[in-house]
Amino acid sequence: MLKDENEINYSPEKLKEMIAACVGAEKVPKQVFIHTDTSDFYRIDYDAVVVLGGRPYLVRNNEREGRFGIEEQQKYWVKRARDLTDGSTKILKLTFLERFQANVGGLSFECYRSPQKEARILEMVDGNLNFMQGHAVRDSAGNIIRIIEYITGKTFADFILELGSSHEDYFYNYFPAVLDEYIELVKAIQFRSGFAENAINAVAALQDRPSVAECILSRLTELKCSTVVVGRRGITRKEEFLFGSTSCKILREAKDCSIWVIQ
Ligand SMILES: Nc1ncnc2c1ncn2[C@@H]1O[C@H](COP(=O)(O)OP(=O)(O)O)[C@@H](O)[C@H]1O
Ligand SMILES: [Mg+2]
Repeated sequence: MLKDENEINYSPEKLKEMIAACVGAEKVPKQVFIHTDTSDFYRIDYDAVVVLGGRPYLVRNNEREGRFGIEEQQKYWVKRARDLTDGSTKILKLTFLERFQANVGGLSFECYRSPQKEARILEMVDGNLNFMQGHAVRDSAGNIIRIIEYITGKTFADFILELGSSHEDYFYNYFPAVLDEYIELVKAIQFRSGFAENAINAVAALQDRPSVAECILSRLTELKCSTVVVGRRGITRKEEFLFGSTSCKILREAKDCSIWVIQ
């Protein structure tokens, strides 16, 4: 990207006009704070304007990662914003170079965030509507910012919460259709990983066993799997209480195969 694309080509008066056109005259802030360097994302508050790739974005709320009805802390590096040139809603993912140590079943491993990787994935899935659409630009400090089209509607997890009048009703009458849809998501991962259309076989297994771990363990013996991939991605303490023991049990008990635990 050209360096001068990060220059601010809008006067505060012009920006106020654009804000009024976008969110209404009554919501125009008295003073407009303009940022081109997003390194300190805590300083980029509601009503600030961030100029990226020559475009001004009006910052709204920080996003949260609520799942299964559990609301989490706000993510200061994930801003909802309005593109002031066309009024569209975008997600600005600012650079957060977090590293942390995770522990599963006695194993300790390092996790880190990669803005470059997210930018590469956006490029790879461009035009495939099974994925979020967006692109990356650098801010004036060189941070890689992902600008993503806002996806409206409920998350898959929240959608599921509303199905069925009881858990039994959900399990017998809705769950099979949910799994069918879920397989579409697995196919999307297949595309992202560069596998050929027919290289992955998606099978939904419904078994009556005391735990998910035992279900997976029996399937992997039957199928003679060489690798098992289990997700533990971003689970919270509360979710760990519910689901965390699955990856631990598989790590302890699976034989003759390698195991990837995805954080
Ligand atoms: N394109 C999008 N459209 C709508 N909401 C989004 C979008 N991208 C992120 N979000 C919201 O922001 C939350 C955090 O974004 P995410 O990319 O998962 O950040 P992190 O990498 O920190 O987990 C998501 O759980 C979701 O609620
Ligand atoms: Mg997330």
